[in-house]
Amino acid sequence: MNLSLLQATAKAMVAAGKGVLAIDESHSTCKKRFEALGVECTEDTRREYRELLVTAPGSEQYLGGMILFDETLRQSTRDGRKFVDVLKQKGIQPGIKVDTGAKDLALHVGEQVTEGLDGLRERLTEYRGLGATFAKWRAVINISDTLPSMGCVRANAHALARYAALCQEADIVPMVEPEMIMEGTHLIERCYEVTAEVLKALFAELAEQGVALEGAILKVSMVLAGKGAVVQSDEKTVTEQTVKCLKENVPANIAGVVFLSGGQSDAKSTVHLNLMHQLGLALPWPLSFSYGRGIQQPALEMWAKDRSAFEAAQKVLVHRAHMNGLASEGKWSPDAEAQA
Ligand code: 13P
Repeated sequence: MNLSLLQATAKAMVAAGKGVLAIDESHSTCKKRFEALGVECTEDTRREYRELLVTAPGSEQYLGGMILFDETLRQSTRDGRKFVDVLKQKGIQPGIKVDTGAKDLALHVGEQVTEGLDGLRERLTEYRGLGATFAKWRAVINISDTLPSMGCVRANAHALARYAALCQEADIVPMVEPEMIMEGTHLIERCYEVTAEVLKALFAELAEQGVALEGAILKVSMVLAGKGAVVQSDEKTVTEQTVKCLKENVPANIAGVVFLSGGQSDAKSTVHLNLMHQLGLALPWPLSFSYGRGIQQPALEMWAKDRSAFEAAQKVLVHRAHMNGLASEGKWSPDAEAQA
């Protein structure tokens, strides 16, 4: 493991004013998002849309990394430039989603464990050769009065740690992602409790597997009430509870912490991140974004409506990246939003 290389990559991903864009939707997720907007999901439409995202002019001012899906890592622009090379030229770290998805956890109704460890060492070597410098693995934790079970929390934390160790062995920065799912009627207090428990289990496993946190990134959900909860917490409560939970449970030496948007609107994703930086609390790690829907949605909608609006959709994408870049330093304001 080349720790200084891992540290340099991680640092670039969450450099000041920058975060990560997730465009690593699996074929089935991509199909859902495209078909909801009336676009057929084929290898070529996926390539066309991802070209829009990868080549958007100016995105490199706000993006330190982009997470790709296997197919995308191998694809090229219309004029034959590998997507990975375009990103490298822009100084954006190319990442790769390496898990093979969340599968039902045996004997645990309503819970999943993320798979993909078999053959991972060989796949990482190939991805490194194709130019990937970081990877992502997403674990899914459902919340109810009784879930998650300790069995689910531990199985997912263990898999995340095994994955992270394999990544570091291959000089690839692991982005470890436990996502507390927003579906459900749970209150914010329950989300806090579960997030804390999951983070404790995760960092215990990472330590046991010898993972160097200085060369790893945590990607996590914000502490929020479930979508169906009778009480929705205000922005201030969400930001305070999220930062409190992270400060109490995330070791100070991890290279960075980034959020997924997880079904929050693009506006909320930006406002919450911004407010966290305005709390005036000293944070031991860079705290930024790794949004998928939270950055892509407006651009996707514009492109889906009019496929010739390629450049206009790129501008919309870069605008959202810019707003989140500002938010990652607490510098976003409604005025900045309006000036675009
Ligand atoms: P969302 O921001 O759309 O939740 O996606 C981020 C991601 O990569 C989830 O794994």
